[in-house]
Amino acid sequence: SDIEKGTYPHYMLKEMDEQPTVIRKIIQAYESEAGDLTIDAAILHALQDADRLYIIAAGTSYHAGLIGKQYFEKMAGIPVEVHISSEFGYNMPLLSEKPLFIFITQSGETADSRQVLVKIKELGYPTLTITNVPGSTLSREADHTLLLHAGPEIAVASTKAYVAQVAVLAVAAYVTAKANGQGLEFDLKQELAIAANGIQTIIDSKDVLEDIAEDYLKIARNAFFIGRNIDFCVSLEGALKLKEISYIQAEGFAGGELKHGTIALIEEGTPVFALVTQEAVSLNIRGNVKEVAARGAYPCIIAMAGVDEDGDRLVIPPVNELLTPLVSVVPLQLISYYAALHRRCDVDKPRNLAKSVTVE
Ligand code: AGP
Repeated sequence: SDIEKGTYPHYMLKEMDEQPTVIRKIIQAYESEAGDLTIDAAILHALQDADRLYIIAAGTSYHAGLIGKQYFEKMAGIPVEVHISSEFGYNMPLLSEKPLFIFITQSGETADSRQVLVKIKELGYPTLTITNVPGSTLSREADHTLLLHAGPEIAVASTKAYVAQVAVLAVAAYVTAKANGQGLEFDLKQELAIAANGIQTIIDSKDVLEDIAEDYLKIARNAFFIGRNIDFCVSLEGALKLKEISYIQAEGFAGGELKHGTIALIEEGTPVFALVTQEAVSLNIRGNVKEVAARGAYPCIIAMAGVDEDGDRLVIPPVNELLTPLVSVVPLQLISYYAALHRRCDVDKPRNLAKSVTVE
């Protein structure tokens, strides 16, 4: 398997580098002959038929699901619930009349998600699996499959699969919105291509992220990730990445929620990574950064270009407001990678973890 890794020291680094290519592959895979984005007609009908989508997933795939909710609600106007699979199976919420269940799973083998699929099939509801692995258990057992086209992901910490999940969810929501006659003012294909280039820009300046990791996390015991709206969803993923490979205790929070308790944990020098990509809440999140800084935190603002700069440590290339997760997650992945490297952690195979969790 050293051959597959090529000259890379770790699969994780290779897989992060592949992210622009993965987005371009997704554009190709979901392009019609006429050049429009498209999905399988039966899947489109299932999405159009549903009065509510139930996204079921675990870990990083759950975090992608949170973004998917924003896409289907904001682009297509379809209400969405996102559930952690291990919770949903034993504590099922009230269901709508015409639900469609969407299982997001890189491996297609996660037992927690599969047990929900089995129950949902018994109830007779339609199911769709979004997975990276054709022929995987959840793909075979669901009515429909959308593939991620990310290529094999070997590192335990999911990176390119998350980006692929977010991109495929965007495509599915966009195609559904168009088919339903929703007036969308952007061309998703073009916006995805811009996002791919934005990711490349960040990857090309890895040394900046290595410096940030060294500066903020070399001796840190804990770290916080904050954001609002879609940035909050990405902050959860940033925290999970850091936890699983560097073993630094990390939590993602909604910026406004900190003052309701967690701010008590802020000490002199506590790293706080703040994502600022959403115009509508940029002043609010910047205010939250000031609150923690006033209590001694060491804030690292990662902002999108053009979202009123103010003491930003990293400025990321501008993309469509809905697609910012594709780009904003990349610096967080790289910071986690370098933090783990500096601590001599086994980046590709962190302790206590398996690539796919096939037990409940
Ligand atoms: C991510 O970095 C994880 N190691 C983990 O949370 C993973 O996303 C989760 O176990 C779900 O896996 P799946 O996507 O293969 O179902």
